[in-house]
Amino acid sequence: MENNTNQENSDALENVSFACIRPEILYFGTPVVLISTIDREGKVNLAPISSAWALGYSVVMGIGTESKTMENLRETGECTLNFPEGALWESVERLAPLTGKYPVPQDKADKFRFESNKFGVAGLTPCDSEVVKPPRVLECRLQMEACVKSVRRISEPDVQAGIVEVKVVRVHARNDLIIDGKYIDPKQWKPLIYSFRHYFTLGCDLGKTFRSKI
Ligand SMILES: Cc1cc2nc3c(=O)[nH]c(=O)nc-3n(C[C@H](O)[C@H](O)[C@H](O)COP(=O)(O)O)c2cc1C
Repeated sequence: MENNTNQENSDALENVSFACIRPEILYFGTPVVLISTIDREGKVNLAPISSAWALGYSVVMGIGTESKTMENLRETGECTLNFPEGALWESVERLAPLTGKYPVPQDKADKFRFESNKFGVAGLTPCDSEVVKPPRVLECRLQMEACVKSVRRISEPDVQAGIVEVKVVRVHARNDLIIDGKYIDPKQWKPLIYSFRHYFTLGCDLGKTFRSKI
């Protein structure tokens, strides 16, 4: 039976072909994060990012060096990471052409405009954090408060971005997302995914890994 399946798979693969391409971007599909930060005067900024991944309670992010977010992270060292779900994609997209940096950096000037009230424009609600100063995004069912541990340049000279490592100091999950008092229910969680500049959310549950406790 198994041998048959293997044979069918190799038959199906026999005629596939590949081409070497050089896409403008390599955004192969990662969750969107709304990162909130503050400047030295306490003014709040909010921006969508998607170059982020977690290992333990550390999160590593790729952030443009010319962004207000990067400036704030360097100056005040704190942020909140808010994870929108599929239903919030239009709010995220309203933030997409905005920057909190004034004047708008030259290489962004043709496509971006300055905005000081990003929460308002996106129709999102700031709520106080418990450990850090930047506010959380109330509409996001999963939110993390975090402190900057390091910032370093990316080794690719043409890419104007830095690699920021933060330590998560508090996690907030909305009650309807929590199962058995301490786990995020993966069946309830529908993160917004940014894949090759289009927005998606998760499809069906295919199964679980051997380490899943729920
Ligand atoms: C869905 C989405 C994902 C994005 N991902 C990133 C990212 O991972 N890193 C980054 O630096 N910019 C990312 N951007 C672009 C920033 O949001 C953009 O540069 C913005 O102007 C930054 O705002 P700020 O200057 O107020 O910090 C993304 C934009 C969108 C819409």
